[in-house]
Amino acid sequence: MTRLRTVHRCSSCGSAQARWAGRCASCGDWLSLHEEPLSPPPGGVGGRHGLAVLSCPPGAGTARAEPRALAEVDLEGAPLLPTGIPELDRVLAGGLLPGSATLLGGEPGTGKSTLLLQVLASMAAAGRRCLLVAAEESASQIKRRAHRLEADLPQVFVAESTDLASIETAVLELAPQVIVVDSVQAVSDPSLGSPPGSLAQVSACAHALVTMAKSAEAALVLVGHVTKDGMLAGPRALEHLVDTVLSFEGDRYTSLRALRAVKHRFGPTGETGLFEMGEQGLVGVADPSSLFLGDRLAGSAGSAVAVPVEGYRAVLVEVQALVGRPSSVPRRYVTGLDPGRVGFLVAVLDKRAGVAVGDRDVYVSVAGGARAPEPATDLAVCLALASSLRDTPVPPGLVAVGEVGLGGEVRRVGAMVKRLTEAQRLGFSSALVPPHRGAMTRSGRPASSAVEVVAGTAGAFAQLPAPSLLAALAIAFGHRSVRGGANLKGGASVKGGASVKGGASAAHTQPTEGR
Ligand code: TYD
Ligand code: MG
Repeated sequence: MTRLRTVHRCSSCGSAQARWAGRCASCGDWLSLHEEPLSPPPGGVGGRHGLAVLSCPPGAGTARAEPRALAEVDLEGAPLLPTGIPELDRVLAGGLLPGSATLLGGEPGTGKSTLLLQVLASMAAAGRRCLLVAAEESASQIKRRAHRLEADLPQVFVAESTDLASIETAVLELAPQVIVVDSVQAVSDPSLGSPPGSLAQVSACAHALVTMAKSAEAALVLVGHVTKDGMLAGPRALEHLVDTVLSFEGDRYTSLRALRAVKHRFGPTGETGLFEMGEQGLVGVADPSSLFLGDRLAGSAGSAVAVPVEGYRAVLVEVQALVGRPSSVPRRYVTGLDPGRVGFLVAVLDKRAGVAVGDRDVYVSVAGGARAPEPATDLAVCLALASSLRDTPVPPGLVAVGEVGLGGEVRRVGAMVKRLTEAQRLGFSSALVPPHRGAMTRSGRPASSAVEVVAGTAGAFAQLPAPSLLAALAIAFGHRSVRGGANLKGGASVKGGASVKGGASAAHTQPTEGR
């Protein structure tokens, strides 16, 4: 009797091991190894995961790899297919490439199916033949949604199937230019022997679909579910199979959704598309700053405006803080920021600026469901906390940009021009900024910020360089406020002439050299 040969495959990284162990030797994840039958790859092609390949180019594996001068290699000719959804096209650097594969990952309920239905409708309206492989929902469920979104156009076809071979047949019959498979985890190939949904099935089917899309020169989008800990099921195993990995994120209790390119072979990663989920599906957010600041109660204590950079855009967000009573076990509730970072800032405020928040419950949140985890928001978080503790508002026309260090120093951050230009566009009159070193304005004096250097528009917008947290609090609230808890209202004396509109006057701190 022959013994059934098996391997132990890691559900996180896809690597196979001969013996079971508590921890994957490849990626280090615990309890991620699962036993599965070892199936030899048909024809020996398909690589280390034992993948089935639907179609191989003639002579594959035997053709000579003839070296050519890179200068003589043609650029891939096929033009990008714009999706017609501006926020998505920006993330994709123009659109989907025929013959390429894109993986769209996200938690259930974020709106992946909705987004892709809208993409198909938009591309069909532009004359593309589109196929939606419905592996999870029935065609009539999709029809109902499509009808509501006005996406039931004649050029959008639906194939209801979970079977790899019948999906291939549908693609051969229709010859679509765009294929969406929703979701790749629901597709299986019974000939593989492993159970549907297992990592071996998902990676083999994904590989087969990618190969099929390449030979059909169709743009393929695979939907992939994200598990609780934020990983695509079979995550790394799928990521290396595709050209582009998009992550669709959003809290299901708010309408805001963010689309990010995690990997992109045909363009830069780091761009973010923003959407709002509404009655009519997903609508791109062209002006996120106005959205995030829309409900702001300017002049209320505990609120400060930060300018994080999302992808290549600077976005204004409101940081809100509420400092509670002293407690023997002070708690920290943080939304939209890195909780560890907030704990760090609480300690620095306490030690370096005399703002005694360390022994109190602290609630910090970025309003409107936005996320702003970058250190450039540190200064705004500190202002919001100090403002809440003293029950004194931050001047409403002021934004704060800068990282705060353990020594209480305000450190420089990138993309200042972008950040300050956006603040100016939204009607803010001044910005607390880190001190600028070295650069000169056109008139030859040291520049106080990057905007002054580049745009020479300092007149309309006051840039208030603060070398330290202490200086920043003095500028925002007035000098007497900072140590000893004196009442902040009324403002302190003005040195250097810069004034913060609508609030306390500000001492104009000159840039310091050699910090
Ligand atoms: P869905 O696209 O099914 O999410 P996913 O494919 O990522 O699981 O949509 C999820 C939610 O969006 C669902 O709870 C209903 C809501 N929704 C709207 O609010 N407006 C709409 O127009 C549509 C189509 C869905
Ligand atoms: Mg779905």
